[in-house]
Amino acid sequence: MYEKYYNLSTGPFHNTPNPRFFFETEQHREALAKLEYTVRNKRGFALITGDIGSGKTTLTRTLARRLGTDAKIAMISNTRVSPDQLLRLIAEEFGIEISPNADKATVLSQFRRFVQNQHAVGRTVVLIIDEGQCLSIDDFEEVRLLTNLESETDKMLQLLILGQPELRDILKHPRLAPLIQRIVMYTHLKPMSFDDTTRYIAFRLVRASGDRPEVDFSREALDVIFRYSKGVPRLINLVCDNALLVGYSNDTRLIDSSIVTRAISEMMPNFDGFATETNSFADEPSVEQEIDHGRRL
Ligand SMILES: Nc1ncnc2c1ncn2[C@@H]1O[C@H](COP(=O)(O)OP(=O)(O)O)[C@@H](O)[C@H]1O
Ligand SMILES: [Mg+2]
Repeated sequence: MYEKYYNLSTGPFHNTPNPRFFFETEQHREALAKLEYTVRNKRGFALITGDIGSGKTTLTRTLARRLGTDAKIAMISNTRVSPDQLLRLIAEEFGIEISPNADKATVLSQFRRFVQNQHAVGRTVVLIIDEGQCLSIDDFEEVRLLTNLESETDKMLQLLILGQPELRDILKHPRLAPLIQRIVMYTHLKPMSFDDTTRYIAFRLVRASGDRPEVDFSREALDVIFRYSKGVPRLINLVCDNALLVGYSNDTRLIDSSIVTRAISEMMPNFDGFATETNSFADEPSVEQEIDHGRRL
């Protein structure tokens, strides 16, 4: 709604994992390069952890885009099916047709044929499990069946597991040792630094403007955004989106700290959940004072 006012052709801070808006901080660039290497060279499995909104899904969407038709990719996300149904779900995601009454052995053999066929036409088969912390030990054991198949088929199946930090504890289970031993790449995505946060905001504004964005963020505004978001991209997006809205409704293209603090105060109900979830690294109180100040404006 404010896009035209700031000379933008689309919303710059949508919270969607859109590869077009992928911003390469050093750690994101490195993680992406390692992932691509792992998949293209059929090295084995990769694990990426990070707090909510740190960029895990965006990273893998960007990877998928880079791989293009060189890979056949299935992404399983927020999975809450029974272990029995998991293999079937994965097969469906790959577009393998499975008859409703096929047993597990049949599903596996169809999967094997699929992987071999893809390999024959030069494609790597990549299974991405997103929100892996939602899977149980039993679920991961089912996934392991596919990975056994992977060894039979000469590493034709690549597995990327993404999840919140607690996923590490789930994967420590002894039953999953055979799976974990095959992990060749592990990265934990940390929040962005202040400098990266600033560049991230500028990057997304430029990306969203076909031309030149007509908006400025003051240094103080960036300070408040960083202190509130702690450098978590999802939170940066939320604050910036609201700040642009407040700027627009006040007919100003200069986003200063008072605009940002007002934006934050107006989205407080929305924010409480995030604040507690990110509390482990969100403990600077001074923003609260600024929010109060924002309310008084
Ligand atoms: N490197 C990045 N470049 C651009 N946007 C990003 C980046 N990382 C995260 N984001 C933004 O933050 C939001 C949350 O990221 P997401 O990948 O969904 O996090 P996670 O999967 O770790 O919860 C995304 O919708 C995206 O807009
Ligand atoms: Mg995600």
